[in-house]
Amino acid sequence: VAIELLPVHRRDREAVVSLFAAYPFKAWQKKAQGIAPLRLAQLLWDMAEPQFERPATSAWVAWEKRSGEALGFAMMSPHPWHSEIFGRRMGRITHFVNYREPSEVGPVLLGRLLEDARRLGIEHLACRIDGSDWPNVHLLESRGFVCVDCSLKMGRTLNDLPENARPSTSPVRVRAYEPTDLEAMQRIAARSHIHNHFYNDPWLERTRSAALFSEWLRRCAAGAAEFILVAEDEDGKVTGFVTALANKALARVVGVAVGIIDYIVVDRDAEGRGIGRALLDAALARLASDNRLVELRTSHDNYRAVAFYNAAGFRLLATDFVFHRLESEPGKGTETRR
Ligand SMILES: CC(C)(COP(=O)(O)OP(=O)(O)OC[C@H]1O[C@@H](n2cnc3c(N)ncnc32)[C@H](O)[C@@H]1OP(=O)(O)O)[C@@H](O)C(=O)NCCC(=O)NCCS
Repeated sequence: VAIELLPVHRRDREAVVSLFAAYPFKAWQKKAQGIAPLRLAQLLWDMAEPQFERPATSAWVAWEKRSGEALGFAMMSPHPWHSEIFGRRMGRITHFVNYREPSEVGPVLLGRLLEDARRLGIEHLACRIDGSDWPNVHLLESRGFVCVDCSLKMGRTLNDLPENARPSTSPVRVRAYEPTDLEAMQRIAARSHIHNHFYNDPWLERTRSAALFSEWLRRCAAGAAEFILVAEDEDGKVTGFVTALANKALARVVGVAVGIIDYIVVDRDAEGRGIGRALLDAALARLASDNRLVELRTSHDNYRAVAFYNAAGFRLLATDFVFHRLESEPGKGTETRR
């Protein structure tokens, strides 16, 4: 195949949207959630487009020279607040759409992104690849990326809650978040939220990853979350919390309102007493008022959470491998910094 790699341009919309729409992965999720591939593809383009002209964004289309058909699309952006917390320039590959001629197009697209990352001084890159997209998994492996997680996307419908939800027998009280809860939430997350891809990265310091979660909770409390609920025991001590997000763009454009459980954590000493269940039930009931579906992500080896979500009616919708890569400075190697 004769390939030409060009920076993406607004006039490429139609070709790239068609490329997104025929993406062969995530089929199970699209079917389960009733999402029309073309409308999703248009949404993905519309969300990416405002970033094309940012100087630090690297976005490329691979074209088949003779037919002028789009064969692949890749985009990478810096991640300012992750960079701040980890004290090194970090970025992420937000799109790596390479299924038409993967073995020919993939190396060209990825080579270009890595070159741009070096030029932009991005040292650490993250990328998510669909769990069935083996050609790109192997491509990333061959270019120094390491797998740090397999992320499971699970979901369920919300219109059948009353039948499925068994009443919680736990005496736990669940209430709306108050600003004085933040510190307790951050403490519980640092102690109990141990399954996540940052902790599996050989190059990222664990204390900084914990600081990232603390900062994310602060942002959630400051308005990034749709709502936060906390659980407290008889003495008024916070024993767990749940944060929820709303995918407003998906609801607006694709017509499917999907609520997101972002984070549900119970203090390690209080697990197994129905607190998680009480928090989840309350969050689902609240999300059900303006969402038809709910989804969440968890790690493949978080067996407890998977069992917990299965018991609450969640089913597996999609899987993604999470990859990280550190650009090693010449002569320095990529030594572990944990
Ligand atoms: C996952 C988590 C929220 C569950 O909270 P919890 O308060 O321990 O769970 P509950 O006691 O309410 O359990 C509710 C149901 O989940 C299921 N469940 C929970 N733990 C289970 C386990 N180890 N094996 C099988 N089923 C389990 C059971 O069906 C249980 O219902 P039952 O008691 O009637 O059998 C909690 O373990 C936690 O905070 N983990 C660390 C943070 C985390 O990983 N969060 C999720 C990642 S996004």
